[in-house]
Amino acid sequence: MNTPAPKNAVLGVTGSIAAYKACELVRLMAKAGWNVHVVMTAAAQKFVAPLTFQTLSRNPVGLDAFAPVADWKPEHVSLAERADLLLVAPCTANFIAKLAHGFADDLLSSTALATRAPIVIAPAMNDGMWDNPATQDNLATLQRRGVRVVEPNDGELACGILGKGRMADPREIFDFLTKMEVQAEQDVSFEMDPVILSKNNNEHDPPPPPPAPRPVATQRDFAASQYQRTPRI
Ligand SMILES: Cc1cc2nc3c(=O)[nH]c(=O)nc-3n(C[C@H](O)[C@H](O)[C@H](O)COP(=O)(O)O)c2cc1C
Repeated sequence: MNTPAPKNAVLGVTGSIAAYKACELVRLMAKAGWNVHVVMTAAAQKFVAPLTFQTLSRNPVGLDAFAPVADWKPEHVSLAERADLLLVAPCTANFIAKLAHGFADDLLSSTALATRAPIVIAPAMNDGMWDNPATQDNLATLQRRGVRVVEPNDGELACGILGKGRMADPREIFDFLTKMEVQAEQDVSFEMDPVILSKNNNEHDPPPPPPAPRPVATQRDFAASQYQRTPRI
């Protein structure tokens, strides 16, 4: 039996105190067979050292859009093309705003704009930032475009008060990804077997027309199309 090819995830880490929780997330994902490429914003690097993510993911960590690359392709393009999933956890209010408005002024935002892979974000912030209409409008824009949001929890925030804004636990985020993957696989197997569609035909019925030729699609395209159709789990 062939071992399935590892799925590539880009994990974006942005400048929140919850960046330390992304370390556990990398561990869970890598253990489940994901090939994780971490990309950190400049602010994220103030919270956790890139070396931690490099060691946990066993991959180089993306830090700078203009860093020299071995390949000729700009790193944001190669990461964007390789990704089967882009997860941003923790995702700051600032990064939500950048995503909603299509900014591409660093490696992570450029990768997010270039990728066709499904995007999942796990916001983390102070409750005032979360409740702010600017943030809520930006989130609504992203959800309308099919970005999935793993909502933050209520609890004690880094600023010392109780409120909504704590990033979901790494295990919750990981379970969310697993559910998404199972759903995409179920939908793909349904789509890929035209026999299932014609099983209930009476034998006297005229034969169904042959299925239209399918454009060559990658797993990533399938995942993306699934997630367009079912914006929330
Ligand atoms: C100690 C500290 C903790 C912070 N935590 C958060 C946070 O949880 N969520 C958030 O949206 N911003 C937080 N910020 C502010 C962001 O780091 C800041 O907006 C930064 O510009 C975000 O950059 P990035 O989105 O490129 O990573 C924090 C700042 C500091 C100094």
